[in-house]
Amino acid sequence: MKVIKVKNSEEAGLRASIIISNRIQNNPSLVLGLATGSTPLPTYEHLIANNRKGLISFANVTTFNLDEYRGLNGQHPQSYRFFMNENLFKKIDIKLDRTFIPDGLNPSEAANYDNLIAEAGGIDLQLLGLGLNGHIGFNEPGTSFESLTHIVGLTDSTIEANARFFESKEDVPTQAISMGLKSIMNAKEIILVATGANKALAVSQLVKGTLSEE
Ligand code: GLP
Repeated sequence: MKVIKVKNSEEAGLRASIIISNRIQNNPSLVLGLATGSTPLPTYEHLIANNRKGLISFANVTTFNLDEYRGLNGQHPQSYRFFMNENLFKKIDIKLDRTFIPDGLNPSEAANYDNLIAEAGGIDLQLLGLGLNGHIGFNEPGTSFESLTHIVGLTDSTIEANARFFESKEDVPTQAISMGLKSIMNAKEIILVATGANKALAVSQLVKGTLSEE
C-alpha cells in the first residue's frame, strides 16, 4: 500500500484523476470501478475536463459501480445511477450500455454482478471512497473478506451520514446492494481517496491498525 498525503480534496481529486487518466491512455479498454459520495466529485471533474480536452477517451472503457440503494430506481435523484449519469456519464464520451451499476429494483441480480465483472475481464482499477465508520462501498465493518456482491443492511451511522442527501432520515433506504470485499479486492489496482477531518480515525486505523474485517 502506498499512502499519498495531499493538502485538500481538490488536490486528492487531481492526483486520482492523473492516475486514472494515465491508465486509460495506456489501455483505452480499461475496466474501471467507480464510487459515489462527495469524495470522488473532484476526480470526476478532472476526468471530464481531460475528456473534453481530448486527452482521454472513454469510448471503449467499461465501468462498474460499487453499490446502489435497494428500492430506488435509476430516475430517483438519490439513486447512485442518477448520481453517476449526472456527475460523470452524461459529460463524457462513454457508452451508457458499458456502465454497470447494481440494480436497486432487482436485488436477485446481485449474485450475477461478479459474473458480469469477470466477463468484462475483471476490474483493472477501482476507485474507492471511505465511510465515516470505515465502510467501503456499503460493506459495513465486520463484512467478510470473502463477500461477493450482496444485499446489505445499512447501519444507523451510515443512514445518518447519508441522510443529508435525503429530505429526512426516514427517507434513506435501509438496505443496499454492494460489491463485496472480495469483489473489490479482485481489482488489479485500487485507489482509495479519503478527505476531511471526520475520516481521520477511519484512515488512521486503515493505515496503522491491524488488518481485520472491522
Ligand atoms: C456512501 C457510499 C460509499 C462512500 C461513502 C462516503 O456510503 N456507499 O461508497 O465511500 O458514502 O461518502 P462521502 O464521499 O460523501 O464521504
